[in-house]
Amino acid sequence: MTGYLAPEGFETDLKTELGLMGIEILSQHGRLMLCKGEAQDVVFAQDTWLNVEILPYTSISHAAELLKARARRWSHFSLNNHRRAELILDKVPRAKIKRYDFLEEIPKTPIGVFSLLSDAEIIISPETTCPLPFGEIHFNEDKVNPPSRAYLKLWELFTLYGYKPAPGMKTIDVGSCPGGWTWVLQTVGTNVVSVDKAPLAPKIAALPNIEFKQESAFGLRPQHVGKLDWFFSDIICYPDKLLELVNRWRESGLVDNFACTIKFQQPTDFETMFKFKAIPNSRVVHLSCNKHEVTWIHTKEPIK
Ligand SMILES: C[S@@+](CC[C@H](N)C(=O)[O-])C[C@H]1O[C@@H](n2cnc3c(N)ncnc32)[C@H](O)[C@@H]1O
Repeated sequence: MTGYLAPEGFETDLKTELGLMGIEILSQHGRLMLCKGEAQDVVFAQDTWLNVEILPYTSISHAAELLKARARRWSHFSLNNHRRAELILDKVPRAKIKRYDFLEEIPKTPIGVFSLLSDAEIIISPETTCPLPFGEIHFNEDKVNPPSRAYLKLWELFTLYGYKPAPGMKTIDVGSCPGGWTWVLQTVGTNVVSVDKAPLAPKIAALPNIEFKQESAFGLRPQHVGKLDWFFSDIICYPDKLLELVNRWRESGLVDNFACTIKFQQPTDFETMFKFKAIPNSRVVHLSCNKHEVTWIHTKEPIK
């Protein structure tokens, strides 16, 4: 059995996606869906719980023994009997919940997660796909330099997922205003072509290694920009328009890697999301700070 944990407020999207993928939901507990079969790559799962068991337990110590026999670090996802669950957690090594710095190393040891269904039944997963509790990263934020909070999406992509352009690379950031992403790309040492119909915040426009073009990203020709290591987009547009845009840049052969926010209206455009996912060497993820949007990553080398 596998558990898929929806990001807060996205239970319906997770259920729809599971249905479209033919994954049978056995039971729902808040935003946790327990499903039949091996884990699959599900976008609206913030975290995926592997090898889930539902076991009887007779006491706090008994539950702690069940956990210790299965994994080295534990987190508690609260469903019921919260106080009792916290007493169980006190008896086992717990996964640290902390704020991370940008590019700080993330612990690699897998973490287990448990929830109490009642005072007699416990849900246990000895390993989750994300090395952080509940698939969420929280940062020590920079409240001074970035002009918008959108920078947190790239911080997460670079720190938790490890997709990051190297210093000296050439990047493009389309839909860049007021400049949060452009700021991150500049701070990691890339040369940024920054494109938006609206102007950048003056303090970002004044930074070195940023070439700003005030125009529509849809009118821009790849041949006029030249070879790029990374294409970034946080542009507000319909998913199918974004797909057209990235296909044009992919077909140019001038771009090696992509990271783009796919922004949804209601209802979520799963058809286009699956088209992005089907592009070879691609991944689609829901970042901790993505709202009704997901992030598509496409790399030149196969994704591990
Ligand atoms: C969510 S904001 C981007 C925030 C930015 N990533 C940051 O970190 O500050 C989306 C941007 O897309 C821009 N946009 C919308 N249509 C565009 C187009 N056709 N060409 C370029 N930019 C566009 C908007 O002007 C807006 O600034």
